[in-house]
Amino acid sequence: MTAAYAVHGDVAVISLNNPPVNGLGLATRQGIADGLAKANADGAVRAIVLTGAGKAFSGGADIKEFGSPKALQEPNLLSVILAVENSAKPVVAAIHSVCMGGGLELALGCHYRIAAPGCAVALPEVKLGLVPGAGGTQRLPRVLGVEAALNMIVSGEPVKSEFIAAVPGQKLFDKMAASPESLAEEALAYARSVADARPLPLVRNLPCKHPKGDAYFQFARNMVKGMAKNFPAPAKCVDTVEAATKQKFDAGMAAEREAFIHLMWTPESRALRHLFVSERAASKIPDVPEDTPQRAIQAVAVIGAGTMGGGIAMNFLNAGIPVTMLEMKQEALDRGVATIRKNYEAQVKKGKLKQDKYEQRMAQLTTTLSYADLGAADLVIEAVFEELGVKEQVFKQLDAVMKPGAILASNTSTLDVDKIAAFTQRPQDVVGLHFFSPANVMKLLEVVRGAKTGKDVLATVMTVSKKIKKTAVVSGVCDGFIGNRMVEQYGRQGGFLLDEGCTPEQVDKAIEKFGFAMGPFRMGDLAGNDIGWAIRKRRSVEKPGMKYSKTADLLCERGRFGQKTGAGWYDYQAGKRDAIPNAEVVKMIEEHRKSLGITPRKISDEEIVQRLVFALVNEGAHILEEGIANKASDIDVVYIFGYGFPVHRGGPMLYADQVGLFNVVQAMQRFAQNPLDDAAFWQPAPLLARLAAEGKTFN
Ligand code: NAI
Repeated sequence: MTAAYAVHGDVAVISLNNPPVNGLGLATRQGIADGLAKANADGAVRAIVLTGAGKAFSGGADIKEFGSPKALQEPNLLSVILAVENSAKPVVAAIHSVCMGGGLELALGCHYRIAAPGCAVALPEVKLGLVPGAGGTQRLPRVLGVEAALNMIVSGEPVKSEFIAAVPGQKLFDKMAASPESLAEEALAYARSVADARPLPLVRNLPCKHPKGDAYFQFARNMVKGMAKNFPAPAKCVDTVEAATKQKFDAGMAAEREAFIHLMWTPESRALRHLFVSERAASKIPDVPEDTPQRAIQAVAVIGAGTMGGGIAMNFLNAGIPVTMLEMKQEALDRGVATIRKNYEAQVKKGKLKQDKYEQRMAQLTTTLSYADLGAADLVIEAVFEELGVKEQVFKQLDAVMKPGAILASNTSTLDVDKIAAFTQRPQDVVGLHFFSPANVMKLLEVVRGAKTGKDVLATVMTVSKKIKKTAVVSGVCDGFIGNRMVEQYGRQGGFLLDEGCTPEQVDKAIEKFGFAMGPFRMGDLAGNDIGWAIRKRRSVEKPGMKYSKTADLLCERGRFGQKTGAGWYDYQAGKRDAIPNAEVVKMIEEHRKSLGITPRKISDEEIVQRLVFALVNEGAHILEEGIANKASDIDVVYIFGYGFPVHRGGPMLYADQVGLFNVVQAMQRFAQNPLDDAAFWQPAPLLARLAAEGKTFN
């Protein structure tokens, strides 16, 4: 049952009942339609209350129906809203907790609305690259005024019901209940009070005008231009609300419908909907059932108070979980604590954190030089130097002191988690938790599943990641895990492009125009070029003969490590992050090219983008086939949340799907002909070749 029906004296109550947020799936919509018919047919019923059971009035569309024909199946939401409007008996929406998207549109179709305080009200469709599709753009301006409505529609952000109730002249809520608890009773009383009112009021009949008309909408268009960069939906929101002010209701509805259907088919909306579903799907691990028992995590220890350790500790302090930080020397501890303080103080200064919250957080942080002080922690995260010998020392000591059942995690970015687990007598308790720098800011967390990692450990860390507001993706054990293993191929292509004729600036600009937050060379300067240098040195031992451009090594030999040395691929002024092209670096690249006997050629932006992005795609396909990633969408989530991949393109795997895998393979075959590139790498991964041949997609 997804909509319950009950009669209380002379009032029928239809209660949406589709947990968790009463999504308006087909069965729920049918339940509303049936309830309305029943109430109208029952002579004893004088009025109808429409409300939501549990934790919401309604959160809107049912995400299980996203992109499926079920979403359009009759009764679709438009028909249900029409049925509500056409009810011969008054329908009162009793709104609480969450009233969003289709839920708000449904409420706007009701004759009256009573709301509880504390309810989050929104039309968030723009966040999925859409406009509201069931009258939201036409009815909300009629009850809230054009400007307030457009702000809500264009931002998609929730507004609390009590704020809306305070808007002068608003007609969204006819009445506010005293509290969420009293809403049901008050709604019944209110329904009785309007039971005989005729004609029944309809939002569609209210006037909709803006006194400044064209001038206001021009202003609104200019305002959304910035945020609409790469996304067509915000401008369409302005168009449809303008239609509400200039056209009859039905014509406005038709304009909204047209915009909705148009946007539904745009790659940008597809990308946003893909990410919305993928982010939620990433927390589900195929062979770890949702009811897997979990371990309680009430206290955390962090080993190493360097760049990563401090940021990792902050995540837990922010979530109210006490942290003990261990270092080898007091000075290192002091430095680590001072950095944490500095970060928090900067937030206080910007008004993002209250002074008392800051103090509360710092009070939860203790430091120690002794492993004996860590025994009580439920989760310990190691973030010491990236050397297996150092990790061995640390994990042996942890094995000796940590209580049974504690989770032992490593933040290693390249080392073998199975080897680290083998340093302990409890490999089932060991897992990789690969945070990204700065760890207190970046949303991505790669959870590295060792061969023996316990399912309860995985389930627990996925829950913990939500608590500390990270988006976690599970990766199997391999060098670089999902993200860095792929980025190595991307970086390698960047190097070849320099050898063949590009400047770092040209490569960065091309990929930034595609939408990346930062090109590979600016990214190298930010992360430190010495990190890649160390990896390449290791590679030359492990995988001798792997082809790569030597320009990055030459750069490092000159001490140009990036922003931290004020010089890398670009120059940096003290305290600034603007990348200034450097003629010496360009000369260095040219001389190296000459030494290889290469005649430079002009390389198009299109080739640059394809080589960089398809390198990610091909390695991603290998990763998927090897089972390192559970699903293609996990790879997309890693790239969006950890590597600045353009959101409007939905991640490398979805982008490849949208380009067409056949076309991707064709391009790879072309790149393989280039003698200066790595022909072996460009052999399409077997999975990619198969999908392309069968006309299928990754996602
Ligand atoms: P870091 O050099 O800034 O900090 C390491 C800290 O560990 C130092 O303060 C050092 O005193 C301490 N330490 C070393 N041996 C220790 C021991 N035996 N006991 C206690 N403390 C010890 O290094 P960073 O950048 O924080 O990296 C730490 C780990 O995080 C490495 O495994 C690294 O690969 C990984 N990582 C680093 C990222 C980055 O961008 N820096 C990103 C993701 C992971």
